[in-house]
Amino acid sequence: MDYQLNIDWPAFMATYWQKKPVILKNALPNFVDPISPDELAGLAMENEIDSRLVSFKEGKWHASHGPFTEFDNLGDSHWSLLVQAVNHWHLPAAELLSPFRVLPDWRLDDLMISFSVPGGGVGPHIDNYDVFIIQGMGSRRWRVGDKLPLKQFCPHPALLHVEPFTPIIDDDLQPGDILYIPPGFPHDGYSHQASLNYSVGFRSPNSRDLVSSFADYVLENDLGGNHYADPELARREHPGKIEASEINQIRKLMHDLIEQPEAFNQWFGSFITTPRHELDIAAADPAYDTSEIAAALQEGETLVRLGGLRVLEVGEHCFVNSEPLEISDKKAATALCHFTRLGAAELGDAVTDPQFIHELTTLVNQGYWYFDN
Ligand code: SIN
Ligand code: CO
Repeated sequence: MDYQLNIDWPAFMATYWQKKPVILKNALPNFVDPISPDELAGLAMENEIDSRLVSFKEGKWHASHGPFTEFDNLGDSHWSLLVQAVNHWHLPAAELLSPFRVLPDWRLDDLMISFSVPGGGVGPHIDNYDVFIIQGMGSRRWRVGDKLPLKQFCPHPALLHVEPFTPIIDDDLQPGDILYIPPGFPHDGYSHQASLNYSVGFRSPNSRDLVSSFADYVLENDLGGNHYADPELARREHPGKIEASEINQIRKLMHDLIEQPEAFNQWFGSFITTPRHELDIAAADPAYDTSEIAAALQEGETLVRLGGLRVLEVGEHCFVNSEPLEISDKKAATALCHFTRLGAAELGDAVTDPQFIHELTTLVNQGYWYFDN
């Protein structure tokens, strides 16, 4: 299914992106759910897939993590089933992400899908990422408050809620409506009828995670061997004091490590192409040989990128799934980063280059790309 978003992106970005929440009425006209509640429940039974059941019964919140073996005894109200990274496992659902590729891929996280019965929801909470919540079947009431300091608490060890807030949005979503919420705005969705919601979530790393990952990279690659040096040292009156110039020198030693563009890009490329959820990765069986790959491309076949696979260009290099992308033809590497579906037209001259075909064969055999047939 080819989803078209009825959104004026420049206006949206200028007014709302990272600034304030908004309901985009009928942004996906004639919306058809790409998945059924039964299929979603099936995914929540799989070991590799992250899922949660959240319910509110007799005045108490409950939450449990999948995989689930059954969905009996849940009753017909006040529960929600949430499944993470459905785009990694379900191609028709993954297609919902395509129209959001006016935003950079590196900021995208995953597609979370929730199924809620009447009264179902996860309760009032704050997320620290941008999210577009698409209403599928059914309808749900959403309340969103302003970004103000609010107390958070755990009504159950697996849930983080927020104290009551005054809504700045309080409205029912109908199929095809989208609610955009920037980080930090409290919100609460409450289902009127059996309802599917699709959350297109974005990630924005915090400096703690960046520093910690960069430190791992430095250790793994044996970088940062430069020592503090003070050949100009003078006799000290106060040996118990660290001078400001010395602290600056220490800071500079650390800065210098981050200022090496090559190492920095290598680290970031690997960091940002690391998926946060498992991929449905399967090696090609039987493996292709290079002549089969070359023939398929020349016959006009289309290669599809594995759902959730992160393929990104950073500086002069491309990365896939935490590793450098081993493609020597720069234009072809860029095409692999740009298109999620591609063939001879997108790859250009590379399709007749034996070196490229060899490299591509490795990627296809690894299960990173597959033919559409
Ligand atoms: C949901 O679909 O119930 C949760 C979406 C959210 O609040 O982030
Ligand atoms: Co939320």
